[in-house]
This record gives sequence, C-alpha cells and structure tokens, in this order.
Amino acid sequence: MADQAERLREWTKAQTTDAYLSHTRITAIASGKGGVGKSNFALNYAIALAQFGQQIAILDGDVGFANLDILSGVRGTYTLSSVLRGEVSLRGAFVTCYPGVQLASGGASSLLDESYAAIKLSRLTRELLTLQRDYDRILIDFGAGFGRFSSEMMGLSDDLILILTPEPTSLADSYALLKYISQHGRTPLVHVVVNRVVHPSEGALTAQRFKLVAERFLDVKIQHLGSIPEDEAVKRAIQKQTPHLVLEPQSRASRNIVQMAHVAVHGNELAQPPRGIRAFVERFYRKSHV
Ligand SMILES: Nc1ncnc2c1ncn2[C@@H]1O[C@H](COP(=O)(O)OP(=O)(O)OP(=O)(O)O)[C@@H](O)[C@H]1O
Ligand SMILES: [Mg+2]
Repeated sequence: MADQAERLREWTKAQTTDAYLSHTRITAIASGKGGVGKSNFALNYAIALAQFGQQIAILDGDVGFANLDILSGVRGTYTLSSVLRGEVSLRGAFVTCYPGVQLASGGASSLLDESYAAIKLSRLTRELLTLQRDYDRILIDFGAGFGRFSSEMMGLSDDLILILTPEPTSLADSYALLKYISQHGRTPLVHVVVNRVVHPSEGALTAQRFKLVAERFLDVKIQHLGSIPEDEAVKRAIQKQTPHLVLEPQSRASRNIVQMAHVAVHGNELAQPPRGIRAFVERFYRKSHV
C-alpha cells in the first residue's frame, strides 16, 4: 500500500502547478441517520447550481442502495463501483442527468464499504484530479452512517453538508458523525441543511441547536445553509423519477434549494442582480430547462 501512496504522490507532483490552484470544490453530503433526504437534496442542489452556470459532477456513494439513478431517471452503463475497482475512469462512468450535471451512479459496492479502503481512496483521488479543469463542484452523496474510509473522504472535502431533520435522533446521529470526523483529522467547512421542516421557525431552531452543541463541544463552526419544508412535491417527483426542480420548480422545496445554490455561487449578494456572461448563461438555462 505504501507503494500505491508513493505512486499517487509522484503522479500528483507531475501535474502542473495549475492542479493545485483548481477552483473545483469537493462537497460531501452526509448524515448520521438514514432517510433524511440526502439524495434528493444532492440531485436537486446539483441542478440548481447548474442553473446558475456551474458544471457539476455528482458521485453516488451509497451502499448497495445507490438510488440517484432512480431519482434522476437516468442510468449509465458503468458505476462508481466500476471506477473504484479500476475498470473504468470516472469520466467513463458519467451520464448526463441534466445540462451541466454529470452523474456517476453507485452500483453494488460503495464508498462506505471499508474493504480495500486505501486502494479505493488513492484511485478516487487520482480520478478526481482528472476532473479539476472541467467542473466547478463535485458533490458526493454518502449513504447514512460512516466508516473509516467514508469519514476520511468527508474530512478531505472542502465542504461537508450535513442533512438534518428536526427529530432529536437526527441531530444526535449527525453530531456523532461530526465528532468522529473532527477527532480523526481535518474538519472541512461544515454546513447544515434542515429538511422536512413543518413550521417555518423549525429550520432555524434546529440549526441553532446543532450549532450550539457542535461549537461548544467540538469547536467546529457551523453554517446554516438553509431549510427545506416537508413538501408533497418532493414525493410526487420521486414517483415520477424526475427531480422536483424540473417537475415542480415553483414548489417551496425547489425554491429553497435554488436560494441555497444562489448563495453558494454568488454569496449573499441577493440585492444585486448578477451581470455579465455568466448571468446571461444562467438566464438561458433557467428559461430553457425549467
Ligand atoms: N422535503 C421533503 N418533503 C417530503 N418528503 C421528503 C422530503 N425529503 C425527503 N422526503 C422523503 O424521504 C425519503 C428519503 O429521501 P432520500 O432518499 O433523499 O433520503 P437519504 O437520506 O438519501 O436516504 P438514505 O440514508 O437511505 O440514503 C424520500 O423518499 C421522500 O419520501
Ligand atoms: Mg440516499
């Protein structure tokens, strides 16, 4: 394994300096508890970012229950499992699930499966390097829970988006995940999204509760990216295997996710309408694809 790591280091050094200046952000999407809405968020957030002109890749890192292909209604020939086994390049596994969004489906084995973790990590790192000039952001949808390999990947990412719901169990489980990451190496920038919010104040309250505990006991700063309401549009979209941002762009869930993508791309400059070529492209996408 030392050999593998050494080869990877040499290969990375051989890349141009440009490689280190890549603007491609790697965003891990995770939760302690399962079924909280990670995959739906990942897919629709990717589409919203693409509508703002970003080039996005999503990797489905779920265990055996990989379902981004079901949610998006597109399926490629190869999966992320094939990439991790070294059978195909990451680009070779991509399928376009929306203009500007490339998806690598999960397949049978996964990022959470701990076997051959070091080899998989070095393969994936190498594959990610090949994407750096063409993508603005790579989203990795992790399944619920975590192991050494997946938490290491989360720690290596630029951002970690934790999906919470207002249930105490969701907070406790995500806290446990964050604790593990913060105690086993580097902690990325941590954002929380509160999903399935019923009362308008519930999102901010849940985020605040999580933030207080994480900042006090783990010394980790948390940013509340936004909240998503409990919305029948999400369920209708799943039934139709079409992302809700495409099927019902005016639903509250869709509008909130667009708002989060806007902040991610433009910061908090909501008062100033975007200008220039990028804004032109965004308007084009919003007009022709939504
Ligand atoms: N905002 C929402 N409004 C209504 N229902 C929702 C919402 N978000 C998620 N759901 C429901 O929760 C289910 C689980 O969502 P999803 O598959 O995205 O969760 P997950 O966290 O990726 O699950 P897993 O941990 O198994 O990967 C969906 O099938 C849907 O029924
Ligand atoms: Mg999922």
